[in-house]
Amino acid sequence: MESSILVTRDDYIARKKSKKKIVMITAYDAAFASIMDSSGAIDVILVGDSLGMAVQGQNTTQKVRMEHMVYHTEIVARTAPSIPVIADLPYLAFEDPDEALKNAKALTAVGAKGVKIEGDKPEVVRRITSAGIPLIGHLGLLPQTARNFKVQGKDKADAERIVQEALDLQDCGAAAIVLECVPRSLAASISEALEIPTIGIGAGPDCDGQVLVVHDMLGLSSGHTAKFVKKYTDLHSTVRGALVEYADEVRKGSYPSDAHSYH
Ligand code: KIV
Repeated sequence: MESSILVTRDDYIARKKSKKKIVMITAYDAAFASIMDSSGAIDVILVGDSLGMAVQGQNTTQKVRMEHMVYHTEIVARTAPSIPVIADLPYLAFEDPDEALKNAKALTAVGAKGVKIEGDKPEVVRRITSAGIPLIGHLGLLPQTARNFKVQGKDKADAERIVQEALDLQDCGAAAIVLECVPRSLAASISEALEIPTIGIGAGPDCDGQVLVVHDMLGLSSGHTAKFVKKYTDLHSTVRGALVEYADEVRKGSYPSDAHSYH
């Protein structure tokens, strides 16, 4: 199905009106970015600060710095040239509007088409969007500052706060909002209330789009898998199996064979 490319806020609003879901996925390196590019299946790549876990092997996103985001964003934007890239502003990189704009510009300078920030930061959103940089908000579970990694917005007051934050972000110029780990019914009512699209992760099927961490949906991550993750394959086992087979063949002398030799 032909879909328009998502770059500007108007593009995101038009996509929501068309009712075609937005497909977003994370990438951090050339191998995955180039497969995504050739697949023709992905609308938007997110260079998420989940790279702290997926690439750096940390147990938090808090150690991800601007220099890491710039490095990975440049690689992904260069190797997936047909897909718009959104890059996360990492922890402490958008404490005030000036700092936030400087850092957003550093990410667009290496190929990001826009940035994503966690939380309700109206001044930051206004400063970045009025400089012409598309911005995606992120509400619900906020991994950069979360004290507990639980579903958010379960009680009435918390749900009302998240709805209000979503409306604020829209008023300040956000192009879309990622909703992470909120009840399905809350995500549905926020999606209904907004003109801009919602992109869910652990937010049920009624959002205007979906995002997943690529390592999770490919089964590359080991350890606990959140309820909302669907593993489309089990690369962890596939890769481990291939490594064991390779080691076995090298040790017993069946690889390399004459077929892998130059004559
Ligand atoms: O960093 C990230 O990958 C994200 C997604 C989980 C939405 O923010």
